[in-house]
Amino acid sequence: MRLSTRTSTPLLVLALSALPQVYPWSCSFTASNIPYDLDPLSGLRYASRSSSTPPTTSEARVMFDLCSESGINREGGVADEDQCPERTRVCLKLLNNKPSASDPERITAVVPIWKVDTPDDSISTSPIGKNGQDGLNIYVQGDDYAGTRQSLNLTLHCDQSASDPEPTLVSYQPGLLSLEWSTPDACPRNSEGDSDGGGGNGTEGNGKSGVGFFGFLKALFWLLVIGLILYFAVGIFYNHQQYSAKGWDLIPHRDFWRDVPVLVQDLLSHMFSGIRGGGGRGGYNSLG
Ligand SMILES: *[C@@H]1O[C@H](CO)[C@@H](O)[C@H](O)[C@H]1NC(C)=O
Ligand SMILES: *[C@@H]1O[C@H](CO)[C@@H](O)[C@H](O)[C@H]1NC(C)=O
Repeated sequence: MRLSTRTSTPLLVLALSALPQVYPWSCSFTASNIPYDLDPLSGLRYASRSSSTPPTTSEARVMFDLCSESGINREGGVADEDQCPERTRVCLKLLNNKPSASDPERITAVVPIWKVDTPDDSISTSPIGKNGQDGLNIYVQGDDYAGTRQSLNLTLHCDQSASDPEPTLVSYQPGLLSLEWSTPDACPRNSEGDSDGGGGNGTEGNGKSGVGFFGFLKALFWLLVIGLILYFAVGIFYNHQQYSAKGWDLIPHRDFWRDVPVLVQDLLSHMFSGIRGGGGRGGYNSLG
C-alpha cells in the first residue's frame, strides 16, 4: 500500500498542477512550500456577531463554505432578494432587528465577499509562525459592494486541541470582514520528510525511516509465518494424498523437523562453549 501511494504521487502532482485553470482555489494547497489540507473544514458554516444599536440590534451574519466549488446553496424559506448570489463561497448579511416593528428582522445588506470565480491572484495564503506551525492566514480581495472593495481576512489558528465547528466573526468594518478559526486542520500537513522539527507526533510523518524499518521487519515476520503455514499445509496434504500418511508421518520432511531441537541445542551449546566447542560438531551428523 505504501508503494502505491508513492508511485501515484507524481501523477497527483501532475493533475494538481494542471488544475488551477479550472479551479482557482483548492482546499489542499501549499503556501510557501508548506502543505495544508483544509478539506475537513468544508461544508456550510455560520458565524455571527451582534451589536446593540438602540433602538435596534444589528447583526452581521456570515455563511461560509470554504471548499465548495459551486458556492453555498440557496437557502430555503428566504426571499429571492435576500439570497446570497449564486457561486458565492463566503457571504455576509447585515441584519437589523427592531422588536417593536411589525416585521422585526430586516436584512439590510447581502454582501458577497468571496466568489467562486474570484481570480487566483486575489487570494493570498500565508503561513503563520515558524514553518507554519501556528496556522495560516487567507486574505481574499473580492468585488466592490456599495462602492467599497470587499476583503476577507480569515485567520486559521493551528490548535490540536480545538474543536470549534464554526469560525468566529471578529469584526466587519465596511470593506473588511475578519474571521478567525482555531482548528487542528489549520496545522501544516507533514506529508514527507518533515526534517525533525521535534513538534509533531511520529505516527505518520516523522520517523518515517523507523516506521519503514519496523514495517519491513513486521512484513518479513508475517511472510515467514504464512510461508511456514503454507509449507505445512501443502506438505501434509501432499503426504496424505500421495502416501496416505497418518499421524506424525503427515509432517513434511519429518526427519529434518525431528532433528531441529537437537540442531538448536547443538548450536546454542556451540555458541556458549566458545571457540573450544569442537566436540559439539558431531551433532551435525544427524543431518547427513
Ligand atoms: C488579519 O487578522 C489577523 C488576526 O485577526 C491580524 O493579525 C492581521 O493583521 C489581519 N490582517 C489584515 C491585512 O488586516
Ligand atoms: C502526541 O501524542 C501524545 C500521546 O500519544 C499526545 O499526548 C500529544 O498531545 C501529541 N502531541 C501532538 C503535538 O499531537
